[in-house]
Amino acid sequence: VGFVAEESALTDGNCTRDSSVEKFEIVFPGLPHKHCFVQYGRGLFERAAEFASSLVSGRARAVIVSDETIASYYGERLLSNLNKCNLSTELIIFPPGESNKTWETLGAVLRGLVEAKVGRDGFLIALGGGVTGDIGGLAAALHCRGIDWMQLPTTTLAMADSALGGKTAVNLAGGKNLAGAFHQPAAVFADLDTLATLPLRHFRAGLAEVVKTAVMLDGELFSQLESSPLELLEQDNSRLERALLACARLKAGVVTRDEREAGERALLNAGHTIGHALEAAASGLLLHGEAVAVGLVLECRLAEWITGFPPAGTQRMINLLQAIGLPTIPPEGIDAGRLAGLLGLDKKARRGMVRFALPADIGKPHVSGREYTSPVEIDKVMSLLGRMF
Ligand code: GLY
Repeated sequence: VGFVAEESALTDGNCTRDSSVEKFEIVFPGLPHKHCFVQYGRGLFERAAEFASSLVSGRARAVIVSDETIASYYGERLLSNLNKCNLSTELIIFPPGESNKTWETLGAVLRGLVEAKVGRDGFLIALGGGVTGDIGGLAAALHCRGIDWMQLPTTTLAMADSALGGKTAVNLAGGKNLAGAFHQPAAVFADLDTLATLPLRHFRAGLAEVVKTAVMLDGELFSQLESSPLELLEQDNSRLERALLACARLKAGVVTRDEREAGERALLNAGHTIGHALEAAASGLLLHGEAVAVGLVLECRLAEWITGFPPAGTQRMINLLQAIGLPTIPPEGIDAGRLAGLLGLDKKARRGMVRFALPADIGKPHVSGREYTSPVEIDKVMSLLGRMF
């Protein structure tokens, strides 16, 4: 399948406690020198510095890129760990939130890399959630035409999805993620202990990515989520750990087969076509994961019409998202005309048609020949969705 799975317990001398850690490696057939070492578990945060320093040679310099909130929790700790490992490192901080995933923030991070005298042999560590991974990764792709980097995800969203697969981007006035690059991280270390500082609303929102992965790729995982959704909200419950790891492994398989989204990787955009438009139309009212949750429900309705997805499946989707505490209908006051306009700006939109990654059933994507997405006229989408506003 392109990646190796291995279970292990970390026991070496520098570890402050024994931790159960799952490790695997993403191997990209077209990029023989670009393996990504993935570790999920607890107590891992302390070990990331050691790993980072092992990847960096001699006197090369490094930076941590993080937002103000996450840096206040973990920035100094990571800095001190890196310095103990003799990796000369500086911390570059930007204001938190999707509204700061901008060209301007990216410019400030790039200036920070120059000021920190990070050369082509340097290293970048993105410490935080999806926004930090996207900005840090894009800065790593651009600085000196590309330096190595790693992700230390601290949110459910990043651990379930965005930290893996090398998509990096900033938003432009014309749309979300419009300027970006594929730039694979050398490693992803997800320390579940860092979820303790994640506000509940963000914690829940990230779980929309878990539900997305399950509905498209793993019916068994979907059933497990349904059987005890509240356990997912318990930070120290192994159910959560298993669900995040399952998503990471599923995503690793997909990106191994289709790194650049020529086909199969588009399946991971389920819920996102409407979700991205809703997120923009709601002007900051919805977190990304919340918009994806609503998008998943609306795209399940679309799938009933286009792929024969069972209406009972849509009901299961609604029940699961509600049990997790996520929204399943658009917020009041969203303007349908604005939403239609935003759908037309989707990266996959062409001449009045938008492409959707749709489920055929719970755990099974709709794939037609080599087409992983279905084109639908925006007018048709709006006439179907119009009834829901
Ligand atoms: N978030 C979907 C992907 O990485 O392809």
